Amino acid sequence: MTGKVSKEPIRNNQTDMEQSTKARGDRCTAILLAAGKGLRMGGETRKQFMDVSGMPLFTYSLQTMDTCDIITDIVITVPEGDQEYCRETIDTCGLGGKVRKIVVGGRERCFSVHNALQAVDWPCDYAFIHDTARPFIEESTMERLYDEVRINKACVAAVPSKDTVKISDTEGFVVQTPKRKNVWIVQTPQVFDFELIKTAHEKMVEQYDELLKKGVIITDDAMVAETFTGNKVKLVMASYRNIKVTSPEDLVTVFAYMKEKK
Ligand code: CTP
Ligand code: MG
Repeated sequence: MTGKVSKEPIRNNQTDMEQSTKARGDRCTAILLAAGKGLRMGGETRKQFMDVSGMPLFTYSLQTMDTCDIITDIVITVPEGDQEYCRETIDTCGLGGKVRKIVVGGRERCFSVHNALQAVDWPCDYAFIHDTARPFIEESTMERLYDEVRINKACVAAVPSKDTVKISDTEGFVVQTPKRKNVWIVQTPQVFDFELIKTAHEKMVEQYDELLKKGVIITDDAMVAETFTGNKVKLVMASYRNIKVTSPEDLVTVFAYMKEKK
């Protein structure tokens, strides 16, 4: 199937009756990030659009969100100029059912998230912010995150660190060794009460340059919540398989996992 390129909203044919029972009446928007440059991966095609076992990388997490009953709506961020390509790809794969908007991302990940949050003009209780560079997000993790966000308003997928972690000074000398049992590797989805994270991102954008001058670089949404809200962020057990495809050596793992899935 190819051809007809639909304009926004791509499809918007869900009625309240069709909403999932798992969603318990909540509207949950997945913000799928696919607007990066993929510099560490290199190559001619941006990594999110790379063909992986017959489908572009970004469509794997889209497929999971499309099937996941918790998610009611989806917004995707893409690089400038790639909107039509994404619309067509999504339609071809038959994954447009919940996709409300495809928006242009920003120069950094946090600006892409901000653009997506600003684009949400439908009812939304919770935002599930997810890197499409993580194709192996599992539905069981989504369910744990959903249960937690309803209690705590802010939570992130994470796994305990298998390695000992060191904190260094600027010269590369060790200054601290945190207790390993307290060290977690943070992933996405990062899930928040919608108004809480939207307001926090608005403050972040206002203060971004000031923070940068102080050497503060925003690397995830939890950090935005930590810095600009009084709400604590809860770590939710995810899976070691929920890897981020970042550089070429990750592709070996991706293909191994894909093979197992089939
Ligand atoms: N992303 C985005 N907008 C940006 C930067 C990143 O939407 N301005 C998305 C990426 O497409 C990816 C996710 O955020 O799905 C995580 O980012 P990362 O793994 O760092 O991807 P890239 O930024 O594309 O890669 P690199 O940092 O190597 O250039
Ligand atoms: Mg990046």
